[in-house]
Amino acid sequence: MRQFVIIGGGARGLYFTEILEQELGCKVVAIVETYKPGESFIEHPLDDAKIEGVTIFDDLSRALDAYPPDAVDGVFIMTPEWTHTAIFTEVVSRDYNIFLEKPIATTREDALAIGSLVNGYPHVVQIGFVLRYSGFYRQVKNWLEGRPMGRVVMIQMNERLTVQHGMKFKRSWHRMVQYTGGYINEKCSHDLDLMCWFKEPEATPVRVVSLGNRGYATSSVGETTCATCTRADCLYRDEPSSYDKYVDGEVLLDQTAKGVGQCIYGNDSDITDNQSVMIQFSDGSHGVFSSIAMSGVPGRDLVIHCEYGTIWGSLETGELHQLDYRTNVTEDFAIGGMNMHGGGDVQVVREFVECIADGTQPSARVSDGVRATLLALAADESIASGEVVGFSL
Ligand SMILES: NC(=O)c1ccc[n+]([C@@H]2O[C@H](COP(=O)([O-])OP(=O)(O)OC[C@H]3O[C@@H](n4cnc5c(N)ncnc54)[C@H](O)[C@@H]3O)[C@@H](O)[C@H]2O)c1
Repeated sequence: MRQFVIIGGGARGLYFTEILEQELGCKVVAIVETYKPGESFIEHPLDDAKIEGVTIFDDLSRALDAYPPDAVDGVFIMTPEWTHTAIFTEVVSRDYNIFLEKPIATTREDALAIGSLVNGYPHVVQIGFVLRYSGFYRQVKNWLEGRPMGRVVMIQMNERLTVQHGMKFKRSWHRMVQYTGGYINEKCSHDLDLMCWFKEPEATPVRVVSLGNRGYATSSVGETTCATCTRADCLYRDEPSSYDKYVDGEVLLDQTAKGVGQCIYGNDSDITDNQSVMIQFSDGSHGVFSSIAMSGVPGRDLVIHCEYGTIWGSLETGELHQLDYRTNVTEDFAIGGMNMHGGGDVQVVREFVECIADGTQPSARVSDGVRATLLALAADESIASGEVVGFSL
């Protein structure tokens, strides 16, 4: 049975623990988690999921000493992105197979440092670009393979979050550029990755321009936290979720970064919540990706215009279509209603396990992670400067 260590016992780390144990027949032997206030908080979700035999460490080096690379098959880095470089550096130095969550880093320097650490690295390294692994986006890629409808001329992509989902990005560590590298890097680096993936191998990104700002809850209403606020009907009220920490059965808010439970009206969040990014590619084509953090019509959709046809669809409905103008024939593809990652979470973990077994490299590589983060940072640079930003890798 394949065995793994998870670093970061938060929402993603615990979700991947369940995927490994319950969907893929693997064993998570240890979780490394530095959150102090409730040492027992991880056990509650693990108990709920009926997962046993996981040792919890609060120190990475001790965990890696206890489970060296010849004792486990790999490690998953599932901590917030501002911690990725330090953790990745230590794990690489010890020669593990590594799964690194997206976005890979929050700064240009860190992204490039992670990129150079894997030059010649002989083990499997996979980036958590889960959307590449959903049946929906795989079908788009299949339809584009070999360019049966000619060159890709323009790509239009959208992501709209619900109010409940979007307000998460105004709290906790998610709310600050210093912890995330910005909204597009944190939330949408995999959408930028998809756009580049669709354009491969015909072209690479050469210029980026972006507009966006903070458009919601911009000024204070005189409150500081939801706990002390009496506005029961507030749109942005922070309700405990299944991902909050538990201590002795009680929900405990995550104190690992300030801002949990904050009133978001006029708070210190400095990321955008509505942003459009245009990328020009080396063949003169372009793509535009727009995301809004508060929408009554949540979902991801796309329209891809090729020389002789169009592909369009919605991740939520799981429906895709392609029309070839030359034959006037429309082909339909449906895989049913999709969750927000279109089933990609299980598939991305499955591919990591298979790559370790086969000695192959995954579809989503570190170079893709570097490219996506540098594009997101270039987009924010464009907003700040009001200029088109040149891009090269
Ligand atoms: N691929 C995707 O679609 C996707 C979706 C959501 C989040 N993410 C990414 O996954 C990562 C984790 O996100 P999350 O939502 O689970 O966050 P989270 O805040 O729920 O969990 C992160 C956990 O890491 C712990 N932690 C922080 N520093 C640590 C350290 N040095 N060592 C060990 N543990 C540490 C925190 O205490 C926390 O429990 C982030 O990079 C995030 O951007 C990716």
